[in-house]
Amino acid sequence: IWFGTRGSQVQILPPRPLMKINKVVVIGSGTMGSGIAAHLSNANIPVTLLDLKTEITEEAKRRIINSRPPLLVDKSKIENITAGNIQDNFDVVKYADWIVEAVVERIDVKHQLYDKIFKLKKKDSIVSSNTSSIPLKVLSKNLSEKDKSDFCITHFFNPVRYMGLLEIVKNDFTNKEKIKFLKSFCESSLGKGVIICNDTPGFLGNRVGVYAMQVAMTEAFKMKLSVEEADAIFGRPMGIPKTGVFGLYDLIGIDLMSDVLKSFIKELPETDPFQIVAKDIPIIPKLISKGYTGRKGKGGFYRINKSKGARVLESLNFQTEEYSPVKKIDIKIDKVDLKELISRDDKYGKYAWSVLSKIIKYASSLIPKITKEFNDIDEALRLGFNWTKGPFEMLEEIGLKNFFSRIDDFKNNKFLENLYKNKNENFYGERQKYTNIQTLGKIKQNPIKIDKNDSAEIFRFKDYNIVEFTTKANALDYKSMDALKKATDKPLIIINESMQFSAGVNLNYVMDFAKKKDFKSIEKFIKYFQETCKHLKYCKNPVVSAPSGLALGGGFEIILQSNFVASHNNIVMGLVETIVGLIPAGGGCKELLWRWSQTEEGKKDLDYAPLKVFEIIGYAKTATSPIEAVPLMFLNSQDKKIMNRNSLFTEAKSLLDKNKKFLVPAECKFKLSGEQVREKMHKLLEKLYNEKKILDHGLEVGKELAYVLSGGKTDSKKELKEDDLFNLELEAFMKLIEKDKTQERIFHTLTTGKPLIN
Ligand code: NAI
Repeated sequence: IWFGTRGSQVQILPPRPLMKINKVVVIGSGTMGSGIAAHLSNANIPVTLLDLKTEITEEAKRRIINSRPPLLVDKSKIENITAGNIQDNFDVVKYADWIVEAVVERIDVKHQLYDKIFKLKKKDSIVSSNTSSIPLKVLSKNLSEKDKSDFCITHFFNPVRYMGLLEIVKNDFTNKEKIKFLKSFCESSLGKGVIICNDTPGFLGNRVGVYAMQVAMTEAFKMKLSVEEADAIFGRPMGIPKTGVFGLYDLIGIDLMSDVLKSFIKELPETDPFQIVAKDIPIIPKLISKGYTGRKGKGGFYRINKSKGARVLESLNFQTEEYSPVKKIDIKIDKVDLKELISRDDKYGKYAWSVLSKIIKYASSLIPKITKEFNDIDEALRLGFNWTKGPFEMLEEIGLKNFFSRIDDFKNNKFLENLYKNKNENFYGERQKYTNIQTLGKIKQNPIKIDKNDSAEIFRFKDYNIVEFTTKANALDYKSMDALKKATDKPLIIINESMQFSAGVNLNYVMDFAKKKDFKSIEKFIKYFQETCKHLKYCKNPVVSAPSGLALGGGFEIILQSNFVASHNNIVMGLVETIVGLIPAGGGCKELLWRWSQTEEGKKDLDYAPLKVFEIIGYAKTATSPIEAVPLMFLNSQDKKIMNRNSLFTEAKSLLDKNKKFLVPAECKFKLSGEQVREKMHKLLEKLYNEKKILDHGLEVGKELAYVLSGGKTDSKKELKEDDLFNLELEAFMKLIEKDKTQERIFHTLTTGKPLIN
């Protein structure tokens, strides 16, 4: 059953003879089992996936291939997974180095399975459960002491490829060496942030994360806030994903959340403050019984209603228990500023303080009994819930003096009592203690700050600079360019800790000028953007981009014109400007054209590169991993591809160290056939137009793109410089941004998040 294995087998340090993970068996092919199998196969590790029947695992494989966002870094990785069933293929357990159990959350089913596994498994292999709520001591109740030493919980988060957190739960019986080994394997091969936890309910992430959700929900009920209002506060303004609390409930599943709460109620002592917020909320069973279990059901706190042919997003009113169209809440905050948020003299400020203070109080009450490292709680919330700051960092930001002047009481909370006594505002200390990797987060604690504006920060570390964008989704504007330009006086790393590298040029910023018909200012900005990108490529110091998350449009143009790239495995990159009726104008057309013209085919046929790039940019193609990016020439094969996001900084730094004697690249020269290739592009456009795949404005945008990529008024004998192409890009961009139909597209995308076809 191990046939069909692709890729190299991964051998992990430390090189103890029995401690290698070359083969894994995952049992249970539901949401989590299939996610874990997919991610192991991303790391080129052969996996056998077992379920009650082979048809179930075969179906799981189909789900993995078609998953959105994709669980695989490349579809071919599916060949690392072999499907089987627990009757006919259980023998594979004999040969596996690691057996991961991810079956239904039922102790009887799990116990039966362990009986079978421990009878068959080879000596020293590791067995783990993905349970989210059953204690390790209960799971391992029937095991011998030796078997207990090979057993632990590996609690992955959904979706496995994208969520950074892995909690490994151990107790006194677990073999310490094995845990150390498993941690290092999951960190280096699977790229997870691994936090070792004690066997306590909900471990760290869910204990505080689910508590936070419950507080956000119960306080919203108490203060009579609407679903939208609560999510508008317990969301971006707190550095929490915009799904907030009610959106997240719908995403996870209201029924699943209800089960999770039941288990917390059962496992936690009656005096634990969690009990108060986990109690039955009358609306929840009503929703579940009517099939409103969240996004997977008919809807939940939000639902999509089809009314007169249109899809309308509606939210639930708690008083009337009826749905009505969602109201946009504008609390006029576009940056996370907790101090400002909690001191607002309105219901939003009161809600924010009430929720935040309870979370901080609860999280600190868990120190030192649940964990000695308060920093681990913060990191669990970052990696497992995508918060930008954990509760203790929030406390640090609010400031001790401010916090203690507002908080009611904190009796029996040793952690807070100590802070109160010592009054040490700088209590925080090191970050990311769970890993030995030198992360950006760690070095950012004591760097020299060179400069800071509204859009970016520049740090100096040793002999190089770091630029971190700081806007929403790291959208780019004039000030982002200022920072990049200023920072090239030293070798430069462009990297950040937030979810996205950069979602592209800030379209709100562009639209503000467009609304005032101030096109001169847009032109000035695009010119500056081009100048900056050119400077990144040709200045005397090397520039490395280290992206993770979205790197789209202008964000991707920065990467294209960096000298080196160290890319995380979870990226979405591409030039998507045509979707909003524009074309790439920061050198994106030029740079892709250059790369494709350097291929064998490109050197033979002048029209090969323009036609390829026309297709890539015209269709706004994106790559969802570095592996997919290479055939599109978004990345080249030497660019570094990195599984663990924490390693981005070290890898970027090592690129600079290796290239101390950096040679500034020679400027590119282009030969393009002008009219000749343009005609071919126009033919393609006409076909799409006649088939109604594009409409009037699509045709117009396509023609502008064709003009740029064909070299404008040129022919195969003339030579064009980079500046000529920059000018063509700028001209086409300006023509398009002045059109109403482009502005309609931008407005539509900004307000709905969706493309407009016009
Ligand atoms: P699921 O319901 O999606 O999948 C469970 C799978 O186990 C099904 O395919 C079922 O056919 C199979 N199964 C049942 N009995 C079996 C047996 N005796 N042998 C082999 N396969 C069997 O469940 P899900 O969500 O994947 O959860 C699995 C585990 O992961 C649970 O322990 C759960 O608590 C935990 N977990 C779930 C998370 C989530 O977000 N869904 C997050 C973290 C942990």
